[in-house]
Amino acid sequence: MSEVSQLIEALSVEEVDAIEAEITHLPNRESAAIEAMRIVQEKRGWISDESLRAIARLLGMSTEALDSIATFYNLIFRKPVGRHVLMLCDSVSCYVMGCDKVRTAVCDQLGVEMGETTPDGRFTLLPIVCLGACDRAPVMTIDEELITHLSADSIPDILSGFD
Ligand code: FES
Repeated sequence: MSEVSQLIEALSVEEVDAIEAEITHLPNRESAAIEAMRIVQEKRGWISDESLRAIARLLGMSTEALDSIATFYNLIFRKPVGRHVLMLCDSVSCYVMGCDKVRTAVCDQLGVEMGETTPDGRFTLLPIVCLGACDRAPVMTIDEELITHLSADSIPDILSGFD
């Protein structure tokens, strides 16, 4: 099997095309690492070992180097996640403004701890460093949405908006 066919087996033709299109805007293939993983994650929800190997081959870099970028960049998921990813900021402003109470409320409401996914696959809870919205702390994101001025009491209503 040719290298291109092997790649296309692990990645879809659309994914390879989208990654190649991204590379054309960049100085070298490796610079597309994060965007390439984002493209694949958008379709598959996370980056499996097989996807990681295929992306690395496509970009002409080692799987280990790509994996360290994925590990460093906390919006790339290396394990399956729920339908919604909730990221709760635990940096200093949010901490001072009571993110601990918010975290307890989220965990109690969903019955899981940070780092876990609810058994029904609805939410994955993850910590994140400062989201740049310290003046509206405490804050979290659910998928692409930034939710600010959180309180423990606001959590049930917020979570009920995500099925
Ligand atoms: S510390 Fe939470 S947004 Fe900055």
